[in-house]
Amino acid sequence: MCQKHQEQSSITQPPQHGHQHEELDQWAGKEYLANPEILKLAQMSYDFIIQSITFAGTDEEVYRKWDILEIGCGPGVVTKHLLPTFHTVHSIDTSPSMLTYLTTYLPPNTYPNFSYSLHTLSPDSGRLFAERVPLKSPTAEDPNRQLPSPRARFDLAVVNWVLHHVDGVQSFMAGAVGLLKEGGWLVITEMGRREGGHAIDDKSNEQGSFNAPDHYRAAYTPQQLVDLFESHGLIDVHADMTQDFPVFRPASALPLKEGEERKMIPALIVRGKKGIK
Ligand SMILES: C[S@@+](CC[C@H](N)C(=O)[O-])C[C@H]1O[C@@H](n2cnc3c(N)ncnc32)[C@H](O)[C@@H]1O
Repeated sequence: MCQKHQEQSSITQPPQHGHQHEELDQWAGKEYLANPEILKLAQMSYDFIIQSITFAGTDEEVYRKWDILEIGCGPGVVTKHLLPTFHTVHSIDTSPSMLTYLTTYLPPNTYPNFSYSLHTLSPDSGRLFAERVPLKSPTAEDPNRQLPSPRARFDLAVVNWVLHHVDGVQSFMAGAVGLLKEGGWLVITEMGRREGGHAIDDKSNEQGSFNAPDHYRAAYTPQQLVDLFESHGLIDVHADMTQDFPVFRPASALPLKEGEERKMIPALIVRGKKGIK
């Protein structure tokens, strides 16, 4: 059985319940949850976020009261770290299968400060959240459940390892900034590119989309992301880059050829603030 069919059958037949899901996609949350490298990266991503907002001058007693938006949560491996730290977390993703795994990994009844929805960011996101338009928020028992967002605007939006999978980056950024309170922060963790380092060239699928495992945009230089933030009106923009570490390879990626080594790239962490009008 090919990897894609294995993934799809695990999505159409999740072990926890008997419903069939009408929407399929290539994101296999199960693979994420079983991968120790992903779990380690999730802890690092959480640490990057806390360092970034701390270096921006926010004290712990302040950020503990924040209501945050997690964009592209996947099955919730970073969410799990965010929940005990922040007042509330609303997580969004565009993948129904990732959200199906999220709801079993982080059962909504166990985390009263947690909510989530299937949502594609766009310039209309601010209106949809403010007018409390119902959004799909599937549970294992009720894959068609709909709930409005619990709030219109957020103190912080975090985006971990998502931007390289986003097809419409400008629309995505407009949506993310539109959901921030004035004075709220956006923190993005991404694959970084340094002089002479691996570029990790664009790898779209046959339809030209980057939104699937093993498909991605090229890694960003710090200046590229700083420019992107500033072009969306964010201020106090700052980028940090870590040391190189091996790029994560999904199980669906082709095995490395003989003599081929895993690519090494830094993490790039960029923050910016929505100014007060
Ligand atoms: C590499 S996973 C990262 C998951 C999680 N943030 C983590 O760090 O483990 C990328 C996720 O981004 C989601 N994604 C892709 N395009 C998106 C978009 N435009 N808006 C929100 N999520 C998106 C995918 O469905 C997938 O769950």
